[in-house]
Amino acid sequence: MAAITWGLEDGIAVMVLDVPKAPVNTLGRAVKDELIAAFASLEHNPSVRALVFLSGKQDNFIAGADIEEFVRLSNAAESERLSAEGQEMLDRVAAFPRPVVVGIHGACLGGGFELALAAHYRVATDHPKTQIGLPEVQLGILPGAGGCQRLPRLVGLRAALDMILAGKTERSQKAFRLGMVDELVPPSILRRVAIDAARRMADGWRPRRKRPGGFVGFLLEGNPLGRALVARTAQRQLAERTHGNYPAPFAALDAVMYGLRHGMREGLKHEARLFGQLAVTDVSRKLVQIFFATNQLKKDYGIPDPPRPIEVKRLGVVGSGFMGSGIAGTAVAQAIVDVRMRDTDLARVAAGLRTAREVLDDRLKRRRISRYEHARLIALLSGGSGYAGFRRAELVIEAVFEDLKTKQQVLQEVEQVTHDRTVFASNTSTIPISQIAQAGRRPERVIGMHFFSPVARMPLLEVIPGAATDPEVITTAVAFGRRMGKTVIVVQDSPGFWVNRILGPYINEAALIVLEGVAIDAIDSLMVQWGFPVGPLTLVDEVGIDVADKASGVLHAAFGERFAPAPGLATMLKSGRLGRKAGKGFYRYVQGKKKGVDTSVYEELGAHPNGGPRAAEILQRLVYVMLNEAVRAAAEGVVHTPRDGDMGAIFGFGFPPFRGGPLRHADDLGAERLVGELERLAERHGNRFAPSDALREMAARHAKFYP
Ligand code: 3HC
Repeated sequence: MAAITWGLEDGIAVMVLDVPKAPVNTLGRAVKDELIAAFASLEHNPSVRALVFLSGKQDNFIAGADIEEFVRLSNAAESERLSAEGQEMLDRVAAFPRPVVVGIHGACLGGGFELALAAHYRVATDHPKTQIGLPEVQLGILPGAGGCQRLPRLVGLRAALDMILAGKTERSQKAFRLGMVDELVPPSILRRVAIDAARRMADGWRPRRKRPGGFVGFLLEGNPLGRALVARTAQRQLAERTHGNYPAPFAALDAVMYGLRHGMREGLKHEARLFGQLAVTDVSRKLVQIFFATNQLKKDYGIPDPPRPIEVKRLGVVGSGFMGSGIAGTAVAQAIVDVRMRDTDLARVAAGLRTAREVLDDRLKRRRISRYEHARLIALLSGGSGYAGFRRAELVIEAVFEDLKTKQQVLQEVEQVTHDRTVFASNTSTIPISQIAQAGRRPERVIGMHFFSPVARMPLLEVIPGAATDPEVITTAVAFGRRMGKTVIVVQDSPGFWVNRILGPYINEAALIVLEGVAIDAIDSLMVQWGFPVGPLTLVDEVGIDVADKASGVLHAAFGERFAPAPGLATMLKSGRLGRKAGKGFYRYVQGKKKGVDTSVYEELGAHPNGGPRAAEILQRLVYVMLNEAVRAAAEGVVHTPRDGDMGAIFGFGFPPFRGGPLRHADDLGAERLVGELERLAERHGNRFAPSDALREMAARHAKFYP
């Protein structure tokens, strides 16, 4: 079956791409060949005055090159060839002897946008599904079908670098403002407007585009000196952002600058060469694996034969603190459901509603929603000091104080006022779900939904079925979590679940290292260099020392000595040094802004920063203690698959994506090496490093998590 069809409408060739049996259009080899043949056959057709290119998919233009195809490539030369072939195809589009107009509706990404860039005029729909951009660097590669050359020539150097180096995708309104597309129309008239534009161009009309980047753009970009300055600034910002862990944005910058210096032809060659090198790097492989794992997780309910989830239209949230209001605000913003909040007194409810509203205000500020949508969404939020409005809720999420009795009481109250099918979810981070469920009349309707703070920003949700939880309750929680925009993993009801279980020993180790005389910021910066977004001590300040202490108490009680909390944390707790929310933790915070290390904390802890162990040793202790626990928990079945474990760590606390997650990283290091190093660490620093049985067994069998 052909992917490309075309017909002639009054001198305008209307070409439609619809890759058969695929949910989205991608530009694989076969499609490329067809496209080249189609353009070649039309080039000499005298009846064709202009060409319009459209997608036949409902809500997708082109999702880019076929990622599955390029991960199969085994060497840089082959990858370079793939990129060069893509460029050739688009050169054909650019050099088509008559005007080419594209009509864009839906995702127009990577190679898809590069095709649009090669065309002579771009019309896009103003629909939210129309997302345009060059996300390649997020896959560890660069736009390799001319994107590094054509985008800066169209929108100016700075705007192009801003997109390409961050792998950004923009909604069509912004794309229009930036000059990435020429015209914006409602979906219903896309085809007509594109054909009209093609007809006008066939009659000799040409679009007049403003000089990209305005006057400052001219000063900065119109001459080699200005461009060198822009490049140097970009280079510096990249170094700060990537800590040298991600080569793709540097290569993309190189490809853009090279093309501006040596011209389009040479630029394209260089771009293909760099694409070839990047596509076979380990970093790119890891990032692509994450892309596919994310897609798999979108369809996985964590149980075999998942029943249909209940469609949630009304959500009840009990507890209007920071978590409760974050859940309420995010649910309204993302899932567009009616949300009713409940807390013990009205003042608290009002504060909670205000906080929930901030999620919507933020979207308005960032122009993600219109004023009208903002007003409509706010109307969905309400609250009270009783359970009025809960009766018809399909899902109730509690986010009250982290205490078993309190949560059990809330469950009983909610059961009184809701119907038999209502799902009750607890946003506990530590308490076993089955224990909460015991107090209820319908334990089969009880489940855990562990959100991370701040809810609006943190991408992970752990869903935790209890021993009696009904499968329909699991699918409902997972489906609703996805509607809230979260990546969801289903984990076992075991102390600390997955994320806190593997985070616990890591944070504890960091606190122990402070006591051994290493500076707080030195530890954090080491881990940031290694690839984490923040270091462990900044993280614990964000989470709150009290929250961390509670979690650590639960883990200690459940798993014994290896989770014994570092002595200093209790001292900090006693003196009210709770982290960011108290204005002081390991760091100082002034009006919500993080300042330097609060040096008085050393005195309080009886620590003397004097250098302590070497950097390599610190790094190894922090990483290995986490990997050891991750392997142990995975073997216990806390996560169903290594994929879930790795995605949980990446999305839950920012485990460096280019390392693929803790279990993939354990594979890369090898179980035997890990066992050897952990034994050495155990000898030196204590039994908490002793390799787990699971790891020893893997080492003996030379086993890996991934094939
Ligand atoms: N290549 C191969 N498969 C792709 C793909 C691509 N570029 N884009 C999407 N798919 C597949 C997904 O894996 C999924 O497959 P499955 O059904 O077998 O799991 C299916 O298409 C549907 O995708 P989603 O579930 O993600 O659908 P959504 O509607 O949620 O999202 C999307 C659609 C926004 C297009 C999203 O899929 C996406 O972001 N895709 C990747 C975009 C991208 O990174 N493009 C750059 C590619 S590299 C490139 O172009 C190089 C060039 O410069 C030379």
